[in-house]
Amino acid sequence: MNNTDLPLWRQRLKASHSKEGKLASNRWIQLANVSKNNQPRVRTVVFRGWLDNSTMLIYTDKRSEKYIDLESNNNIEVLWLFFKTKSQYRFKGKVYELDDNDKYWDNLLDRSKDQWFWPSPGKKIDNNNTISSIDNRLLKPNNFSVLKININEVDLLKLEKPLHKRYIWKKTDNWRCTEVNP
Ligand SMILES: Cc1cc2nc3c(=O)[nH]c(=O)nc-3n(C[C@H](O)[C@H](O)[C@H](O)COP(=O)(O)O)c2cc1C
Repeated sequence: MNNTDLPLWRQRLKASHSKEGKLASNRWIQLANVSKNNQPRVRTVVFRGWLDNSTMLIYTDKRSEKYIDLESNNNIEVLWLFFKTKSQYRFKGKVYELDDNDKYWDNLLDRSKDQWFWPSPGKKIDNNNTISSIDNRLLKPNNFSVLKININEVDLLKLEKPLHKRYIWKKTDNWRCTEVNP
């Protein structure tokens, strides 16, 4: 996709991202949601790329708490912080399961695939529980999940001198940029 076809916030994000360099941690984002009992939840996940202009992809385990919680409330906020440009992006959106995720599984490195064969995340360690089926990474396990995050609002705060800058973009407003007080 041509850079100028992207919404302005995507162009800004791309610029911030490329300034950070090649560290794996540049793709660590924080995903927040609301649990079934109405409690806030937040954790780090790896950003796995864009499906389209405003849809991010992440991978997770269907046995995890977040997956179960998101089934009953798919509203999320994602936070992505870029150190070099002192830019904080907050994305509001909704999460959906990507039905056909075979190619994402096939493209994962073997060492990344392994964790989907580990025992259930969050359950008490059972030392008798051996890690099974790990040799068969060709078969995609049922607990592998690719989630789409459909972004509908972006809030960028840039720490600049003398004044910080803050911009809001809304999908319902055709991604028009509104500058607001920081
Ligand atoms: C650097 C880093 C990257 C992570 N990436 C992912 C990820 O891509 N997907 C994921 O489900 N969990 C990832 N995790 C683990 C989550 O932060 C979290 O501990 C786990 O998913 C269980 O969360 P839950 O109980 O809220 O579902 C990552 C953790 C760290 C520290």
